[in-house]
Amino acid sequence: MNMDVPPTHQKEGFQPGLANDPVAHACGDPAELFERLRSELSRETVCRRNEPLARRTTLRVGGSADVYVEPSGEPELAAVMSIVRALNAPWIILGRGSNLLVLDGGVRGVVISLVNPGFASIESRDRSLICGAGARLKLVAMEAKRREIGGLEFIEGIPGSVGGALRMNAGAMGHSIFERIDRIRFMTSEGTIRERRGSDVDVTYRHCAFLERNIAIQAVLTGGFVPRAEIERRLKESNRKRWESQPAASSAGCIFKNPESIPAGKLVDELGLKGARVGAASVSEVHGNFIVNEGGAKARDVLGLIELIRERARRERGIELETEVRIIGSAQ
Ligand code: EPU
Repeated sequence: MNMDVPPTHQKEGFQPGLANDPVAHACGDPAELFERLRSELSRETVCRRNEPLARRTTLRVGGSADVYVEPSGEPELAAVMSIVRALNAPWIILGRGSNLLVLDGGVRGVVISLVNPGFASIESRDRSLICGAGARLKLVAMEAKRREIGGLEFIEGIPGSVGGALRMNAGAMGHSIFERIDRIRFMTSEGTIRERRGSDVDVTYRHCAFLERNIAIQAVLTGGFVPRAEIERRLKESNRKRWESQPAASSAGCIFKNPESIPAGKLVDELGLKGARVGAASVSEVHGNFIVNEGGAKARDVLGLIELIRERARRERGIELETEVRIIGSAQ
C-alpha cells in the first residue's frame, strides 16, 4: 500500500478498483499493459504511455499516467475494461479534471478519458437533453437555453463534463446534478451496458458511490419550459455571482466539502488563512475554499496547504474538514 499520502486522504483517494488502489501493485509491468492495449485496440483509440496529466486538470499539477486511453466508442471502452480486468490493472475515468488533484508520482494503471466526440453528443427530446458523459456542462447549459429547457442553469458554471459531474454529484447555486437526472446509461466494470433511473441511484452531497465502479456513458437531463430570455437572465445572474465570489486563477474548485456548521470558505476566512502559501500554491484571496496554482506549483504544495488548513480547523475550531477534490496517484 502506498504510504506516502496522509491517511486522512484515503477515504477520497484510495478507492477499490481505481488507479490509486493498493491493487496497483498487482498491475505488473506498465509496458506490458500498454502493449496489450495498443495491440488489441483499434487505431481510432488514442493510447499513450507516460502521459502527463497536469495539463488535463484545471489545477495543473501532478505526474503522468502509466497509460492514457481515449476510447473511440463503447465497444473500445468495453475492450479496455476487458484488458484491465484480465491484467488486474487499476483504472480510472478522467473527466475534465476540474475537481482533481493528481499527485506528483503520477497514476498507476490506465487513465481513461471519454473526450472522443462519440461520447460527447447533446441531443434534445421534448424537455430533455440526452448527453454523452464527455459533453461539457457549459455546452449542455447553452443547448438547454436554445431549446428553452429551464432548471439547468446552475450547471453552466461548473467547469466539468457530464460524466464527472455525475460521479461527484456536482452542484452550484444550491442545486446538484442528480436533481435533474431522469436516467443514466452506464457501463459496468465487466463491460456490460445498462440503464438506471436517476432516482434509483444513491447519491449524497458531492458523491455518487455507484459511479466508483460503473462508468457513466450517457445521461438524460430534464427541465421544464422557461422562455429563452428568462434562462438568459438566470445564466447572467449566476455568472455574475461566480465571477464576484470565485477566483479566475487555476484551481480545482472548492477543495473541501462544506461541514454542517459553517461553509468551508467562511471557516478558512475566519481562520485568517486567505493568502496562506506552501510553495507556489496559495489559498485564494477571493474565496477561502479555493487553492490556486500561482504557476509551477507541485501537488505536494497543494497537499501541504490542505493539511495546514485541516490542522488549523481541527485545532482551533474542532472541525474535521473533508476534501471534496478527488486526490489520485502516488506522492513519489
Ligand atoms: N464566505 C466567506 N469567505 C470566503 C468564502 C465564503 O465569508 O472566503 C461566505 C460567503 O460570504 C457566504 C458563505 O461563506 O456567506 C458561502 O459561500 P459561497 O456562497 O461562495 O458558497 P460556498 O458554500 O462556499 C458552494 C459550492 C460551490 C459553488 C457555490 C455557488 C461547496 C463546497 N461549494 O460554495 O461549489 O460554486 O456554492 O453555488 O458546496 C465546487 O463544488 O467546487 C464549488 C466551487
